[in-house]
Amino acid sequence: MRQVYVNGDYLPETEARISVFDRGFLFADGVYEVTLVLDGKLVDFAGHMRRLRRSLGELGMAFALTDEDLLDIHRELIRQNDIEEGLVYLQVTRGSADRDFLFPAEETPNTVVLFTQKKSLVDSPLAERGQHVVTVEDLRWRRCDIKTVQLLYPSMAKMEAKSRGADDAWLVKDGYVTEGSSNNAYIVTPEGTVVTRDLSTDILHGITREAVLQCAEDLQLRIEERPFTVEEAENAAEAFSTSASGLVSPVVRINGREVGPGRPGPIAARLRQIYLERSRASAV
Ligand code: PDD
Repeated sequence: MRQVYVNGDYLPETEARISVFDRGFLFADGVYEVTLVLDGKLVDFAGHMRRLRRSLGELGMAFALTDEDLLDIHRELIRQNDIEEGLVYLQVTRGSADRDFLFPAEETPNTVVLFTQKKSLVDSPLAERGQHVVTVEDLRWRRCDIKTVQLLYPSMAKMEAKSRGADDAWLVKDGYVTEGSSNNAYIVTPEGTVVTRDLSTDILHGITREAVLQCAEDLQLRIEERPFTVEEAENAAEAFSTSASGLVSPVVRINGREVGPGRPGPIAARLRQIYLERSRASAV
């Protein structure tokens, strides 16, 4: 049985308990991170911690654990659950207090939960086949740069994609793609330029995005960080998404139209390969 971490204890998943008054449960008053594990090691751990601190700061949420504490907990869970490849999920909420819209006193202890997911992410049938995506209106709140656990709309968008026979939804605001339901979105123009939306409160600042754009730069690809339209995406040479769970995942169909030849493209394949090599080399 899987061992999980809850507020200082490592427990079998069936024994872990959270209060019904937890603000994560009642108000989605919590933030999270998902870190990729390759060869039993954490990919871009420092980046995930940096973003966690930023999310906590934007919500004015106090948090006592240090990055070193969190690294120890991640590693201990990887060890206890024998994870070679997969994900570690970390969630921090503002803790538990009687239901009130006002935040509780500063000294209310956070709820901290971590668990692992053993998954084959490198050898992925979906990455090999290429994703089919459909576009769905982006009806999320306007602070998508904060990684909160408020994931109902992305979940609804993904269900809509599934009901339309697709693998994922790309969210669209004012005619421009913001990002995928749980990943950042990219196109490669017919001229070979990699285009992805610029950083703002409209998207999550992906840790994989940062690493993959560095790979693209080192490959001397042209990069434009700007919004792109649905029409531009449908007429692109290639498309792909990035995230800790999907790494670099080609997109071969958008709204039922084939992207380029309808097969995973060479730029996405090259970026996936380099990203993987670098991640394996730098994992901790
Ligand atoms: N999702 N955009 C959104 C809305 C996301 O939820 C995610 C990550 C990303 C990519 O960020 P990163 O490269 O740091 O994983 C972009 C995680 C994997 C999840 O919710 O499971």
